[in-house]
Amino acid sequence: MTPPSKSLGFSRRSIPYRGKTFSNQCLSCSDPANCCGSDLKTGFDGASPTKKPGLSRRDFLKVMGGVSAVLAGAPFIAAGQFLIPPVPRKFQPLLIGRSADVPVNGSTVFWFPFTTDPNYTNMLIHLPPNLAKEVGAEFVAYNRTCIHLQCLVSYLSNSQQIGCPCHGSIYRPTDGWPISGPAAQIGRYLPNVQLRIDGDNIYAVDINLDDIGYGNTTPPAK
Ligand code: FES
Repeated sequence: MTPPSKSLGFSRRSIPYRGKTFSNQCLSCSDPANCCGSDLKTGFDGASPTKKPGLSRRDFLKVMGGVSAVLAGAPFIAAGQFLIPPVPRKFQPLLIGRSADVPVNGSTVFWFPFTTDPNYTNMLIHLPPNLAKEVGAEFVAYNRTCIHLQCLVSYLSNSQQIGCPCHGSIYRPTDGWPISGPAAQIGRYLPNVQLRIDGDNIYAVDINLDDIGYGNTTPPAK
């Protein structure tokens, strides 16, 4: 009587798969009739043949998908750079007036560094002698955007102060510090516009744009 085969259901056969032929022959004993039943893998164990090194079709499609997305987005990145130009840090000096143009204890309004938005309006103040002595300069300039809720402040000659028409905040003209009203609760200086005096000419040369509408924590540089 033929002994029962240990390789029940493990008969040797050739299996065509994707243009190749694989064998399920046991790699240990090569005896399909009395197979030892080893766990050693055959050339084909029912799963896909070993992956070839290199890019699979699926990986290739993934890569191509990523490349397509980048290429499709590139024009929009370029357009975004055009629509939102980087904020400059340095500005061209701008002639904003001549000393004779602004009366003592008076002021004038100028746009700097841009002319496209009321938030970029500033005031040039010709300080009265008592305040000029305190500051050590005849002229000072501040951005006009109130640090409370961003109304536009003005120099008030009568009181020699800067006032906001919306909620009554008052600032010192000597350094832009809020001394009363809701802006005083916030406690930040009006953004200072740095000036350069060249003979009779007064130039605006710099301002920190990040401070507009929010103020800053440091007094104007002397
Ligand atoms: S906006 Fe100036 S005090 Fe309110």
